[in-house]
Amino acid sequence: MSEKETLLLGQVLDIHANPFEAPPEAAARYERRGAVLLRDGRIAVTGAADALRAAHPRANIIDHGDGLILPGFVDAHAHYPQTAIIASWGKRLIDWLNSYTFPEEMRFGDPGYAAEIAARYLDLLLAHGTTSVASFCTIHPDSVEAFFEAAAARNMAVAAGKTCMDRNAPDGLRDDAQSAYDQSKALLERWHGVGRAIYAITPRFSPTSTPEQLQALGALWSEHPECPMQTHLSEQTDEVEWVRELYPCKKDYLDTYEANGLLGPGAMFGHAIWLTDDERARLRASGAALIHCPTSNTFIGSGLFDTARAMSEGQIVGLATDTGGGSNFSMLHTMAAAYEIGQLTGHALHPAQLLWLATEGSARSMRASDRIGTLRDGTAADLVVLDLASTPAIAQRVDGAETIWEAVFPTIMMGDDRAISAVYVAGVPQSGAPELGADSGHSREVNPLIADSLGL
Ligand code: GUN
Ligand code: ZN
Repeated sequence: MSEKETLLLGQVLDIHANPFEAPPEAAARYERRGAVLLRDGRIAVTGAADALRAAHPRANIIDHGDGLILPGFVDAHAHYPQTAIIASWGKRLIDWLNSYTFPEEMRFGDPGYAAEIAARYLDLLLAHGTTSVASFCTIHPDSVEAFFEAAAARNMAVAAGKTCMDRNAPDGLRDDAQSAYDQSKALLERWHGVGRAIYAITPRFSPTSTPEQLQALGALWSEHPECPMQTHLSEQTDEVEWVRELYPCKKDYLDTYEANGLLGPGAMFGHAIWLTDDERARLRASGAALIHCPTSNTFIGSGLFDTARAMSEGQIVGLATDTGGGSNFSMLHTMAAAYEIGQLTGHALHPAQLLWLATEGSARSMRASDRIGTLRDGTAADLVVLDLASTPAIAQRVDGAETIWEAVFPTIMMGDDRAISAVYVAGVPQSGAPELGADSGHSREVNPLIADSLGL
């Protein structure tokens, strides 16, 4: 056998089917003593530890003990430039954008600042177990360069794009229809498909784009339908009303995108709370994704996204932090908020459903589930290992848990970055792997970015 193989040991939970369509027990396979075999940065096979050890006696073993091995979390909507203004007090959407977001995004005219925040943000994501994200950048092309450079340095699969705005934004944060098209196209051609980078065409939202700009970006998308398109839709009622005033000839908010070629498979609509039945039907028919941002929707006071309804309608749904409208970098925290909003809308989401949304659901919304967000053979070995007893409060709660669902739910509800005991990106441990540096008789790659801080 020529390839280097690594066998990760731990509890393994493989949610291989959509748990909104099949009962959790049928949708998931759980191994109390399981293993994931990694080869060339990909998952080769998952199964019972004893069987895989016997079949691969020369594999390098990393034993995570009782750690729970899952696909790395996938955050389907975030704004990395808002890292430094997360948790800003007291405003609703439009005032929040004007008071906090736009002044901060202005700072990304400085490429050095963009690089600093991109690195900080991606390190925070890894520390929270998130291995992929779809992020907005700012109006500045250099903010996109900085983000893709930082992701490439960590070998992370990310989607990102230049945030286009040509009205209702301050001086210094506006482009125009032509420059939005030209700059987006140049970035797309430079980055899409390079390494693990995915370029996402990114109009911020209809209030900050003229119809001409939306049309130009729709034209770009029709030239590159392989790219995702990310934007915002119907987050707050004031915003919906504003769109009605700005686009008097359009039948609804969705139509401002649809009429300009911005509705279709690969479209990712953040929030999508205040929809009419007709908009829901058109979203469903188009194959677009709705991205649920629960901590943001409570933090900025937007409203309650009905996950169970969207899933029962057959919508594609991803889960996201919406940093920094969202109040946390953690997808555990985001799942907890999704659970609470589920309760408020009449459905207790099952842990299998929450975990699936935070991994495969988000990956599907990015049309990337053939590569990320699952434990399927051949996909990238982007993994998180959870400590299911990471704090005394959680440990006392899970003592004596009888099923994996009982064991994992308290970590979903109460866990944070202390629950992340290891993260792998394309098979390379990022931090906290228990045997890093220990003499196991095999040399092991460690991401050089974090090797220093681990003292390796
Ligand atoms: N709508 C338009 N821009 C934004 C943003 O940056 N954050 C959120 N939450 N909503 C938006
Ligand atoms: Zn957003």
